[in-house]
Amino acid sequence: MKVLIIGSGGREHAIAWKVAQSPRVDKIYCAPGNAGIAEYAECVAIGAMEFDRLAAFVKEKQIDLTVVGMDDPLVGGIVDVFEEQGLRIFGPRKNAAILEGSKAFSKDLMKKYDIPTAAYESFTDADAALHYLDTARLPIVLKADGLALGKGVLICNTLEEAKAGVKEIMLDKKFGSAGNCMVIEEFMTGREVSVLSYVDGKTIKPMTSAQDHKRAGDGDTGLNTGGMGTFSPSPFYTKEIDAYCQKHIYQPTVDAMAKEGRPFKGIIFFGLMLTADGPKVLEYNARFGDPEAQVVLPRMKTDIIEVFEACIDGTLDQVDLEFADNAAVCVVLASDGYPVHYEKGLKIEGLDSFHGKDGYYVFHAGTAQKDGEIVTNGGRVLGVTATGADLKAARANAYDAVNWISFANKYYRHDIGKAIDEA
Ligand code: AMP
Ligand code: GLY
Repeated sequence: MKVLIIGSGGREHAIAWKVAQSPRVDKIYCAPGNAGIAEYAECVAIGAMEFDRLAAFVKEKQIDLTVVGMDDPLVGGIVDVFEEQGLRIFGPRKNAAILEGSKAFSKDLMKKYDIPTAAYESFTDADAALHYLDTARLPIVLKADGLALGKGVLICNTLEEAKAGVKEIMLDKKFGSAGNCMVIEEFMTGREVSVLSYVDGKTIKPMTSAQDHKRAGDGDTGLNTGGMGTFSPSPFYTKEIDAYCQKHIYQPTVDAMAKEGRPFKGIIFFGLMLTADGPKVLEYNARFGDPEAQVVLPRMKTDIIEVFEACIDGTLDQVDLEFADNAAVCVVLASDGYPVHYEKGLKIEGLDSFHGKDGYYVFHAGTAQKDGEIVTNGGRVLGVTATGADLKAARANAYDAVNWISFANKYYRHDIGKAIDEA
């Protein structure tokens, strides 16, 4: 069969790699793709938001299945456009992708269905939000309602900071229309875990757990980024916590969406905080995480095409979803200066070192082909993933492989997976 993947980052590279393992797939396209994805897929220069051009391309090439990696097209309704034209596509419709697209929606859903999350209020009026802050406990968390490239969350330690934050989000529109509405919520403490899951509208099958490292610098310092590295599984995500989440968070979320007339098919990514009062939802995403996909997919044993199709057809209960009993660590190689200012177009060397090495992967995030060479083309450039028998072995392997790659201004965190030592 022929498959189209939509997106251009490390996550989509990991999806393309996994799709390529399926014996049922004989041709992969990716729009727009990147230099690494080009190894498995024919990359086509169509943007992820050009729904009509994408649908026309699918018809022209007689593509059997489209898989959407990114949030923007899902929240924008690409699945609805494809389904109206009779095209098979994996992902939630617009009315379900709102689970990620609106934080106010997701918080109201959790409140209505008793799904554990931080206490909150939502606001469409800046004055009301500013007034509320006067009596709120610090630190406090401000969230722009809509999509903001993972940057729409501010954790404020003082009242002045919080007031400035409300002004940035709602009045200065720092995150554009994402800030027309905002959520102000209680600050929680604990360990964070990401649990991605496959959903077919009624059945949910969680994948193995992972943990991201969002801050740019070692020791969780510096600015928030898209994610500087991950490990999987999380040693803090115990069987007991998993059982609690299945009962109080995962299935209730799927049931709530169905009850609201918004059946969710695709991936639900649960961002969880393991608090002293039990696990609580930090956020939902409607897609694979980046760089969570880069550690979860290399550990997945089941044919991903079988799972995608079961989600679309509502037969996920018949799928035996299996993960290897090993571990994986991904270290993101960025361009120094990310996430603010960084150079592009720097030549990358050493990519060939990964060829033929089992358990080592280099997923391209921001790369391009230039004059027959591969060069940097973004802030996050590559994700180097390695598996191992356990987390410590995987971490040692990943940091070994980081040295195989060189480019000017190469920057990475040295402490991805450090938390493992505290487990
Ligand atoms: P989100 O985009 O909602 O995942 O938020 C980004 C990051 O902000 C999370 O990964 C947490 O580290 C942090 N965060 C979000 N909400 C809270 C909260 N209520 N309490 C503490 N930290 C939070
Ligand atoms: N790694 C977090 C995300 O993909 O949103």
